[in-house]
This record gives sequence, structure tokens and C-alpha cells, in this order.
Amino acid sequence: TKNETFRNEPFVNFALEENKQAMEAAIAKVKARLGRELPLHIGAEKIFTDAKIKSINPGNVDEVIGYVSKADQSLAEQAMQKALATFETWKKVPAAERAEYLFKAAAIMRERKHEFSAMMVLEAGKNYAEADADTAEAIDFMEFYAREMLRLAAINEHQPLTPVAGEDNKLTYIPLGVGIVIPPWNFPLAICVGMSTAAIVSGNTILLKPASTTPVIAHMFVELMEEVGLPAGVLNFVPGSGAEVGDYLTTHPKTRFVSFTGSKEIGLRISRLAADTAPGQIWIKRLVAEMGGKDGIVVDETADLVAAAQAIVASAFGFQGQKCSAGSRAFIVESVYDEVVEKVAALTKQIESGLPEQNFAAGPVIDQGSYDKILGYIEIGKSEGRLIAGGGKAEGNGYYIQPTVFADVDGKARIMQEEIFGPVLALGKAKDWREAIDLYNDTEFGLTGAFFSKDESRIEEALQTMHCGNLYVNRKCTGALVGAHPFGGFNMSGTDSKAGGYDYLLLFTQAKMTSRKL
Ligand code: NAD
Ligand code: ALA
Repeated sequence: TKNETFRNEPFVNFALEENKQAMEAAIAKVKARLGRELPLHIGAEKIFTDAKIKSINPGNVDEVIGYVSKADQSLAEQAMQKALATFETWKKVPAAERAEYLFKAAAIMRERKHEFSAMMVLEAGKNYAEADADTAEAIDFMEFYAREMLRLAAINEHQPLTPVAGEDNKLTYIPLGVGIVIPPWNFPLAICVGMSTAAIVSGNTILLKPASTTPVIAHMFVELMEEVGLPAGVLNFVPGSGAEVGDYLTTHPKTRFVSFTGSKEIGLRISRLAADTAPGQIWIKRLVAEMGGKDGIVVDETADLVAAAQAIVASAFGFQGQKCSAGSRAFIVESVYDEVVEKVAALTKQIESGLPEQNFAAGPVIDQGSYDKILGYIEIGKSEGRLIAGGGKAEGNGYYIQPTVFADVDGKARIMQEEIFGPVLALGKAKDWREAIDLYNDTEFGLTGAFFSKDESRIEEALQTMHCGNLYVNRKCTGALVGAHPFGGFNMSGTDSKAGGYDYLLLFTQAKMTSRKL
């Protein structure tokens, strides 16, 4: 309950038959309602447009998940006006009341967690455990940010300001205004929910533009917030083309902030566009941008090599490598290089690909564009390294690619430097552990990393020198937990706004000082 301290939602164990069956039942239930037409939400109005985004199952491309209405600029403008008007009332709603909507939504999502997960199995191509972790993280974000808002509201009353005789001084965090929330498709529930609810609970109103490959699971979240009675106009749902609706809203003079998670390219575009001031604009837009990664694992000769190989494979191929945190590179010290390479190849070859709804370890990648891009990188890899596992497409009526590993890859190679966002891993050899760390650090990104060693002094040094937002020791570099591992990266990985961390909500507020003469 909300009076307890925050705890992470436990993961479901699908090795237990009853849990597996519960998920299968949820998949059957969700399948029965596929192919529906879904509306935009602008205030209390539900608008069905002729233009639709067709969302399909990437693991079975003939299956349509839903047809989602598509905003154009004039509908985006309507949504902006609604969000602006609603901000005037929402900002006055007490923090505890705002937090209550998140607690309620978290409770309902927990009750129906398999349904949310099932939708991601079908719409995003996640296996059961990956989908379940996504839903658990969404629940965590709501539970965590609701508590954070209560904590901030309490601090508002007692900021540690230096006392001045004859004055009553206060510092209060107040909301910003209307925000544009633009999540990616790869955590289509967790990140969408986290970004949206953080902005909302802080007292802002938002326009949510979901990723175009996963708008149906985003719509399930919008319906959930409607169900818990979130006032109309606080959360407006405007799916649409990034270029048309996205640019329009980013450059809108009334947009107060943009909260973006996605690729470096789009993040930098939004950063440029949002930096400009439109006629009539009276503020500098706040930008929260979480972007890509080229994350990696360093293994020295003292490390537990079995654990290291397992972590390399889990980090590289979980959800087909489509995580900003994915460990798509590993640098291994010379004396144990061959042994680790062999173990990684063997583990990778055991990964079976197939339909997510049948819970194969590896599923499809998200769409044709990703599929073509990843296969292109595999061809590049063939000239940059030695292919030791996978190497091309896999069977199935969808975007299936074999988990692929290249060994002996130079640190400057394209597959070592560019984010591929698919099941492609590059391994490189280092003469010693310090050189391995240098190779790891030679990137424009800086999101996650892991160091494998049993040597205390090396671990101490690695903790200082490996430059990334989320650094792990002797474990995989994916799977950050809300509250425990605040998540966000350095350099071209973004603005290092730590999602699931204790200062995240401050990004959606501004501090107001008041001083009253006594
Ligand atoms: P993307 O950049 O293609 O799209 C992200 C979102 O931006 C989508 O909703 C898209 O519709 C929208 N968009 C596209 N053009 C736009 C425009 N001109 N204006 C406004 N919005 C626009 O990224 P993606 O393919 O959805 O997600 C994968 C990327 O996200 C990877 O690079 C991954 O590393 C990154 N990612 C980062 C984090 C993190 O926390 N750092 C988390 C998850 C994913
Ligand atoms: N937060 C997700 C992870 O750590 C991206 O894998």
C-alpha cells in the first residue's frame, strides 16, 4: 500500500506451469480484441480519424494489433489548447490527490498485469519474461513517482533555507506547464508510463505522442488513466507522425517542456528545434532527452569467466538487443579471450528464435526498417570481424534475425561505434584490463557498462574510470530497477535525467522562492 516504503514489483516465474498458463490465457484474451479502431483522446473527446496508424505483430506480420487514429497539426493544436486550459486547474490540485491517481492505476495494472504484458508480447515481440519486466517497471514508476511527489510536497514546507531574522522564507516546487511526452517503442509500456506519470504527478498537463509501432499498448495506458478518473485534459493522446506532429509540437510557442526518449538522431533534432524561440514564446523550453547507447562489458583475467560469458550474452540478446542498455560490445583481456569467445559463441547458438506468444527466447525485431538496418550492419560486420554465431535472417513470418556475434573486432570498427539496436554483438581483444577500459570508453555514448573482475583494486579503479551513467560490477548491464538503479546516460546518451531516481520529478518543476517580512 501507499503507506509502505517503495519496493520493486516482483517478476513472475514462468517456469511455473500456472504462471505460464495465466499468460497464455491473457494472450488469448487480448487476441480476441485485436484489430480494433482506437481514437485520439483530446480532453474528454474521443476522436476517430480517417488516417490511421496500422500496428502489426512483428512476429507474425499478417496479424493486425489495431488501427490507431492519427493526429495532424490541427488536431495537435486542439490538444494543445485543451492541455493549456486544463493546466490552469490541474496545477492547483493538491499533490496528494495527484499522487492518488498513480497509486490507483498501479493497483489496477498489478491486478491485470498479464493482460498488459500479453499486449506487448503481440505488439512489440517480447517474450513472457521481457514483457513481464516491462509491466513491472511501469507499475514501479507509478508507485515510485507518486511517493516522490508526496516527498517533494512535504519538503516544500520545510526547505533547509538559511534562517534570516525577521523573515519567513520558503522554496516551493511548482509545475512547468504543458509538456510533450515522446516515448520509444522498446519499453512501450514502462517508459511511456514513467515519462507520462512523472510529468502529470508533478502538476503538468501533457500531450502524449506514442511511438508509431506500439500505439495500442500506449492506448491501454491512456484507458487505464481514464478508468482511475484522471481529469480529462491532463493526459491527451495524440499519435502521429514524428515529422509532422512531433516537429509541430516541439516548435510550438506554448510548449513548456519536451520529455523525449529515443534515438540520438531524433533527440538532437528535438534539441535543435526546441532551442529556437517561436514568436510569442516567453520561456526557454526545458528538454529532457534520453537517447541511445553503445554499451559494453569489460572482462579481465581474474573474472568468473562463466558468469562473464552469460552476462555478455544476456546483455546483448535480451529482447533481441533492442534496449538502450544492451551490451552490444565486450572487451576481453588477451589471456582469457579465446575461452570467453568460445563460451559466448556456444551460449549464443543455444538461443532459439520463434513466436513470442510461444515464449521463444528470441523473437523478431520491431519493423521492416530495423530489420533492414540490422541485416545491413551484419554485412558490415562480416568485413570488420570474424563471424562466430548467427549471421543473417531467421525463420518465421516476421522480422526474425539470428543472434549474431563477431569476434576480433577493432575498437574503431563501425559495429563497435554505431548503435545497431538489434541482436548483434562485437567482441574485441585487449592486452590488459586498463586497455580494455580505454576501449570501452572510446565511444560518443555513455549509458551502461559492466566490469568483470575479482580484483578489488581494479574494481575500485574501474568504478572511477568507466564513464557511463549506469555502471555495474560482475553482472549484466541491462535490467535497471526503479529506485535502486536510477537510469540515464552521459554524452550522446542524453541529458542523464535519472528515470526512477530521487531527482527525476524536479525536471518537471521549477523552484519558487517566497520571502515574507515578519
Ligand atoms: P526514435 O528516435 O526513432 O523514436 C522515438 C520517438 O520519437 C517515437 O515516439 C517517434 O515517433 C518520435 N519521433 C520521431 N521523429 C520525431 C520528431 N521529428 N519530433 C518528435 N518526435 C519524433 O527511437 P525509437 O526507435 O523509438 O527507440 C529506440 C531508440 O531509443 C534507441 O536509440 C534507444 O537506445 C533509445 N532509448 C533510450 C533510452 C534511454 O533511457 N536512454 C531508453 C529506451 C530507448
Ligand atoms: N532500464 C532498462 C535497462 O536497464 C533500459 O535495461
